[in-house]
Amino acid sequence: MSDHIPQLNSHGEPDLEAAFATLAAEVRTEAAALTTPDAQEAFRLHWLGRKQGRLKLISDAWLKSAPAEARKPLGIRFNQLKQQIEQALEAPLATASTAAVQGIDVTLPGAIRTPGIPHPLLKTMQEIVQVFHHLGYSTNLGPQVETDFYNFEALNFPPNHPARDTQDTLQIAHQSSKPSRDRLLMRTHTSPVQIRTMVAQAPPIRIVIPGKVHRNDAADATHSPIFHQVEGLCVDTNITFSDLKGTLDHAMKALFGSDVKTRFFPSFFPFTEPSADVQISCIFCGGKGCRKCKHSGWIELLGCGMVDPAVFAAVTEERRKTNPADDTYNPERITGFAFGMGVERIAMIQHGISDIGHFYSGDMRFLEQFA
Ligand code: PHE
Repeated sequence: MSDHIPQLNSHGEPDLEAAFATLAAEVRTEAAALTTPDAQEAFRLHWLGRKQGRLKLISDAWLKSAPAEARKPLGIRFNQLKQQIEQALEAPLATASTAAVQGIDVTLPGAIRTPGIPHPLLKTMQEIVQVFHHLGYSTNLGPQVETDFYNFEALNFPPNHPARDTQDTLQIAHQSSKPSRDRLLMRTHTSPVQIRTMVAQAPPIRIVIPGKVHRNDAADATHSPIFHQVEGLCVDTNITFSDLKGTLDHAMKALFGSDVKTRFFPSFFPFTEPSADVQISCIFCGGKGCRKCKHSGWIELLGCGMVDPAVFAAVTEERRKTNPADDTYNPERITGFAFGMGVERIAMIQHGISDIGHFYSGDMRFLEQFA
C-alpha cells in the first residue's frame, strides 16, 4: 500500500479526472487482494483512518492549495472515492485465486468447490435402510461389543454348539471368570439387536438394524474381519412366510431394478425356522450364466427365515425377569420373520467392484468415483 501523496498538477477538470482515476484504480487493486478480515481492516484504516487515513491526507493536501471554485468538484470526487472504498469493504472477501491476479480475470477457470461425498458403503447401507423405511420399518442400533447371550445363546446357539463355528468369533480377553452368558465378544452379526429390541418392546415390530460386525476371518478379495450388515425384523400377529417373500422380493427389485427375480433356497440358521438363502437373478447376464454368477444365472445375497419359537422363548425368559407373568411373545399368537444382508457384498455387486479391500483403502481416487 502506498503512503505517497500524489501530486495534483492543477485543479483543472482534466487533471482532476486523471488524478482521481489513478486513486480509484489503486483502491480497486487493493480491494481485489483482500482475502482475510484482517487485511480488510488494514485496508479500511489505510484509506479511511480519521487522522492518518490516505483519504484525509490527500484531501488535506489538495484542498489547501485549491482555489475557491475548485473546492466543490474536489469535494464531490472525494465523496465518490469514499463510497467506492466503503463498497469494497462491504463486498465479500476475494478468494486466494482471484486475489492473486489482482482483480477479476474472467478468462480464468472458476474456483472449483467439490462437494464432499458419502463413502460408497455408507451410501449403499443408507439405500438399503431407505427401502425399508418406505415399508414402515424404523432403524435400531446396538453395541458392537456384545455378550455371549445376545450374540449366541438367545439366538438359539447353545454353548459349544457347532453352529458357532460358522461365525469365527473375536473374544474379548479376560472373560473366563464370568458366567458364559455374560462373556464379552465382538458381535459377529447384527442379529443380537433382534433380541435387544424384543426384550425392550412388544409387537408390532418392524425394524432394520444397520451396523458393523466382526469376524476372525483372514482378509481376502471377498472377506474382511470387519464388515457391515443390515438386519431386518418384522414381528406381529399373522406374519407368514409369504410376507417374508413379498417383502424381500420388493426390496431386491428396489435395490437392483424391477427386472430382477428372486428365489428362496432352503438353508439353516439356528434362530430361524424355516430358513432360506435368497438369490437374485444375475444382474450381469440377466440369468443366462456368466463368470460373475459362476454360470448359474443366480447370485446369493442374503439369509432369512421365520423367527424360531426358541428365540421367542429366550426373549420371554428375559422379559419375565421384570414381569413374571409376561406372555407378550407367545409363539401361538406371535410370529415374525428376520433377514440379514452383507452391505459390502451388495455394494460390490452394485458397482462391479472385485476387491472388498478398496472400501477400506482410504484411496480417494477409488472413493471419489462414487459421487
Ligand atoms: N445373522 C445371519 C448371518 O450373519 C444372517 C441372518 C439374519 C439370517 C437374520 C437369518 C435371519 O449370517
